[in-house]
Amino acid sequence: MDLTDRPRRLRTDGVRPLVSETDLDASDLVAPVFVDATTDERVPIESMPGHERVPVDQAAARVAEVRETGVEAVIVFGIPESKDDVGTRAYAEDGVVQRAVRDVAAETDAYVITDVCLCEYTDHGHCGVVEEDAAEDPTLTVKNDETLDLLRKTAVSHVEAGADMVAPSSMTDGMVGAIREGLDDSGLAEAPIMSYAAKYESAFYGPFRDAADGAPAFGDRRHYQMDPANAREALREARLDAEQGADVLMVKPALPYLDVVSSLRREFDRPIAAYNVSGEYAMLHAAADRGWLDLEEVAYESLLSVKRAGAELIVTYFAEDLADRL
Ligand code: PBG
Repeated sequence: MDLTDRPRRLRTDGVRPLVSETDLDASDLVAPVFVDATTDERVPIESMPGHERVPVDQAAARVAEVRETGVEAVIVFGIPESKDDVGTRAYAEDGVVQRAVRDVAAETDAYVITDVCLCEYTDHGHCGVVEEDAAEDPTLTVKNDETLDLLRKTAVSHVEAGADMVAPSSMTDGMVGAIREGLDDSGLAEAPIMSYAAKYESAFYGPFRDAADGAPAFGDRRHYQMDPANAREALREARLDAEQGADVLMVKPALPYLDVVSSLRREFDRPIAAYNVSGEYAMLHAAADRGWLDLEEVAYESLLSVKRAGAELIVTYFAEDLADRL
C-alpha cells in the first residue's frame, strides 16, 4: 500500500470540527408563523405536525415561543376573515397580518418578515387579479400589471404596521420594483425586500395550501410560477429581481432545487435564502412516524445541505425543533 493521501486522517473527533466547511446555526433560520382571523383558539395543522394557526391576539405569544428556542426571525402568513376577487384584506390597515405584526413588533424583539402575496386573500385563490372568465378558460391567468399595485399597497401596509422586511412571493413580473418604489415613496426606504426570486410551480406546497387555505379554486399556478424543468431561467428571474432592488434572493422549494441555490450563490453578490417548504417537512415527518427515519437527524442533515449548497438563511418549519440542538 502506497497511500500518501488518506482523507480519513481528518475525520477523528478532535479534528472534524476544525475542518468542517459548513455550520448551521439558529441565527440562520426563519420560522413561519400562521395567524388566522377566523378563529379564537389555536388550531393544529394536521399535515404539518407541531404547527398551528393562531388567533390574532396570540400572535405575539406565538412569536415569543419561537424566540425562546433561540430562533430570531419569523415570517408571518395570514388567513383573513373574508376573501374577495381582489384580495382587499391583504392591504387593509386592520387586516390579519397588519394587526398581528403591530402586536408582535410591540411585544417581542423578533425580526419580523411578512409574506406578500394575494392568494390567501382572493376568493379564487390565485396570487393576483385574474382575467374575466379565467374559471372557464384554463389559458387565462393572473393579470400581471394590475396586480402590481395591490402588492405594493400590501407591502407598504405591512411595513407601516411594523414589519422589518417584506417577502413578495407572487411571481408577478416587476413585483420587486413596484414594492421598492412604494416603500421608498412612503418614507420606508430602510425596509429590505427578500424576493421569492425563483419560486417553482411545485407539488411540495400541498400541506401549506391546507394550512393557509390558499389552494387555487380553479387551474394551477404554472402561468406565473417557474417550470421545475428550468435552472437557467432562475438566473434570469434573480437578475431581474436584483436589478429592481431585491436585497435577498430566495429559492423555493429548497431540497429539490439545491442546484439552483448553488448557482445563484455563485452568480450573485447578495444573500441567498432557501425555503424548505411544507412538503419537505411533511415528508420527513411521515417517514419518521413510521419509524423509517430519525426525524432530528434527517432534518439537521437536510438543512445542512441547504447551507452547503450556498444559502445564508433558511425558512423552515424545523426552525424551533432544531434550534435546541444547535
Ligand atoms: C404564497 C406562498 C405559498 C408558500 C409560501 N408563500 C403557497 C403557494 O405558492 O402555493 C408555500 C410554502 C410552503 O409550502 O411551505 N404564495
